[in-house]
Amino acid sequence: MSDVVLKMEHIVKEFPGVRALDDVHFEARAGEVLALMGENGAGKSTLMKVLGGVWPYPTYQGDIFIHGERRQFRNPRDAMDAGIAVIHQELNLLAELSVAENIFLDNQPLNRFGAIDWRKLNDDAAALLAELGLIDVRPTDKVKHIAVGKQQMVEIAKALSKRARILILDEPTSALSDKEVTELFRVIGKLRQDGVCLCYISHKMEEIAQIADRIVVLRDGRTIGEPIAIPDITLEQIIARMVGRELTEMYPASSRQRGEKILEVRNLGVDHPSLPGARKIADVSFSACRGEILGLCGLMGSGRTTLASVIFGALPHATHGEVLVEGKKTDIRSPADAIASGIALLTEDRKALGLFLDQPITFNTTISSLQTISSPPIGFIDKSREYTLTEHYIGQLGVKASSADALVGTLSGGNQQKILLARWLNAGPKIFILDEPTRGIDIGAKVEIHKLLDRLAGQGVAIVIISSELDELLGMSDRILVMKEGRIVSEFTKANASREAVMEWAAGARRVEK
Ligand SMILES: Nc1ncnc2c1ncn2[C@@H]1O[C@H](COP(=O)(O)OP(=O)(O)OP(=O)(O)O)[C@@H](O)[C@H]1O
Ligand SMILES: [Mg+2]
Repeated sequence: MSDVVLKMEHIVKEFPGVRALDDVHFEARAGEVLALMGENGAGKSTLMKVLGGVWPYPTYQGDIFIHGERRQFRNPRDAMDAGIAVIHQELNLLAELSVAENIFLDNQPLNRFGAIDWRKLNDDAAALLAELGLIDVRPTDKVKHIAVGKQQMVEIAKALSKRARILILDEPTSALSDKEVTELFRVIGKLRQDGVCLCYISHKMEEIAQIADRIVVLRDGRTIGEPIAIPDITLEQIIARMVGRELTEMYPASSRQRGEKILEVRNLGVDHPSLPGARKIADVSFSACRGEILGLCGLMGSGRTTLASVIFGALPHATHGEVLVEGKKTDIRSPADAIASGIALLTEDRKALGLFLDQPITFNTTISSLQTISSPPIGFIDKSREYTLTEHYIGQLGVKASSADALVGTLSGGNQQKILLARWLNAGPKIFILDEPTRGIDIGAKVEIHKLLDRLAGQGVAIVIISSELDELLGMSDRILVMKEGRIVSEFTKANASREAVMEWAAGARRVEK
């Protein structure tokens, strides 16, 4: 067909011990959003890195055709010159540079003397930011001073600045607020109308249903079936293509017993970092019991992540109020104190995950709980025990890796996230707080993680889940607390919680009577 702008044929890409792409066939048209879906480690990011020149010719086999012409990119610059822009899963901004400098990093406007035209640079950046509805970010702001969600938008502005004809978005919404997602989708809609070809990778089914025209699935490095138009395929069929089996239920039908109170938070408050006298969160009181899954709901910025980090001892100087564990007051002044009290926190921030990318899975899994693999009293690390434990988690969480010795930096994004989860599971917490535990995790693995959390609760752990996916919270939680503007504004039980009711409170349509 003439409107096919991008064609990839017989693409094979191997890493030591892994055939990441195994004869992939991929084709996309002008003016369409083509969703690329598949499990963690299926090869999506690798395919796009081949296209974007990150894995240059001839480190892969196969052919790339752009507008019918065979191309061999030797670096990202070549791909860019061919009209391809990639927004990678891992953000690639330079923290010390300004927003504008980042946007035009590899194509700065020059003045007639051949020097950088700073005024044009900043004006052009401002125009792009306005196009994305990013009014509160200035071109001159340093990237390190803006929030992760905004950084992701800057990455998108950078891709737009290249006026690419093929735009690849690898999980672009993972750190965006609902409002930013809406802006992004508006821009995507506009680009599609202008005839840009968009390849969109995401694990979020609702997003795919909302913006994709067609969808193509990768499984174990192979293309499964032909691209198919969204209205012609059901969610179940997509999942079946992805995981190679039917998924019957997303959430475990559990019969857990709620035990005694294990975590109690009284009047917790945190000073606002920049507004003297103001609180980032205030008057937060709640408790959680053994065997209970407590959901924490709220819009981005409502204080959920702050609350989690405060309980974990991350902001000791700004914190007011009390945290009790097993009925006893604690004096948690650092994450190490929190861990010693039996509290674990899986953080949402992928970048600051605390993964050691150049270390193997074994090291990363056991680093927070060396007592599980060392033999007292001297504390030698028992290598074979470390190996066995790690293999256990690899199996339990379905981590896709060549072996327990694989370096974490070589794993796909979702599999890295699973390693972090393994680390905390191995620490054996009594209270486990998880901030966006299934972000970036494929749908099959998500179901496994839900089952695992249910089992942990069954063993008497108190689990607190923060998730921006309301369905996940409703499906998993025994109780749901709704936060808004740093306060808990309402509480629901599994029986009386509904999408509408919870959203009403989170969005502020309903308010607490004073
Ligand atoms: N630099 C690398 N070195 C070694 N192996 C790699 C490297 N990059 C990717 N792989 C392997 O290639 C396979 C495909 O990974 P890829 O990142 O493409 O998956 P993905 O589909 O993007 O997954 P996710 O949904 O988790 O982001 C995985 O087995 C991964 O471990
Ligand atoms: Mg990926």
